[in-house]
Amino acid sequence: MKIVITGGAGYIGSHVVLAALDRGYDVTVFDDLSTANKENINPKTKFIEGSVNLKDDLSNLFINDRYDAVIHLAASKASGESMLNPKKYTYNNIIGSLNILMSCIDNDIKYFIFSSSAAVYGNPRYVPIDEFHPLIPSNYYGYTKLSTENSLEWFSKIHGIKYASLRYFNAAGFDIDKRITGKEKNTENLIPLIMEVAKGRKPFIPIYGNDYKTKDGTGIRDYVHVSDLAIAHISSLEYLIKHSKNLILNLGSEAGFSVLEIIERTKSILKMDIPYKVMERRVGDVAKIVSSCSQAEDIIRWEKKHSGLDTLIKSTWQIYNKKT
Ligand SMILES: NC(=O)c1ccc[n+]([C@@H]2O[C@H](COP(=O)([O-])OP(=O)(O)OC[C@H]3O[C@@H](n4cnc5c(N)ncnc54)[C@H](O)[C@@H]3O)[C@@H](O)[C@H]2O)c1
Repeated sequence: MKIVITGGAGYIGSHVVLAALDRGYDVTVFDDLSTANKENINPKTKFIEGSVNLKDDLSNLFINDRYDAVIHLAASKASGESMLNPKKYTYNNIIGSLNILMSCIDNDIKYFIFSSSAAVYGNPRYVPIDEFHPLIPSNYYGYTKLSTENSLEWFSKIHGIKYASLRYFNAAGFDIDKRITGKEKNTENLIPLIMEVAKGRKPFIPIYGNDYKTKDGTGIRDYVHVSDLAIAHISSLEYLIKHSKNLILNLGSEAGFSVLEIIERTKSILKMDIPYKVMERRVGDVAKIVSSCSQAEDIIRWEKKHSGLDTLIKSTWQIYNKKT
């Protein structure tokens, strides 16, 4: 199996690369390195530096090689930034995805796996959120993902390409065998932030609101281990090939943890104090977001092997602890 992984030098992409290599695939990584960590370019892959927004770069990707599938992770991912700079998200996420999708059609690639997001659902009407939940994104980032999902549906109807839209909840953790060593760039995620504070690089963890209707008043979110996410890409691709049916799947842990719960558990694992400060609620935040992933479990036999809280914390710490 010869595949392209766009964004394969990024945080989740580098873990998807590992899962694909572990499965014996021949992998080409296509990445413009805009938010990648060069340290995470896997030497067992062919690396092509390029952007999904540049026609010449895409031609260069397809000029010499024929591929069976594309796993498309390249995108910008900060929901707050998407509201301040929608143009960037239009180019990178909507137009970039259409560019790579059209290249797939031109180059007769039959399978496409897309990094979508739980952001397509917007504010939860109910929890746990399943794939039948209304799709009403509450930020532009979520809209860019929904827009690409919709294009995939049409391209599949018209051109026959088979696709999987994988709606990730919050990716967390690192490869437990420490094969990925480069930290996530510009992350706004809670667990890396706790690690930065634990290392003394940031003074405290801001907790935005402690008066939500949750057990300790802080927001509850769904954190899924990045290696569990990664393997789902491979299982989805193999499902598309075997069954020739499209997939739309939630990928989360189904377990919600509150901000305070994660801080307290990290304190106890690292045996150190980690300061935090309670601030005002942020506009748009909600009390609880938790996934239902029974579709992924039933259809692709997905198992969440590493998504327990302790593994999420320990596997992140082993990367953050050794960096200066
Ligand atoms: N991290 C999460 O919790 C999360 C949750 C839901 C969905 N996602 C999606 O997963 C994907 C990967 O996210 P990540 O957390 O690994 O982020 P990341 O920033 O680490 O990875 C994105 C990668 O894509 C590359 N890239 C960006 N624009 C590009 C372009 N125009 N052409 C080629 N390469 C480009 C970057 O250099 C980087 O290596 C994204 O599509 C993101 O929207 C992430």
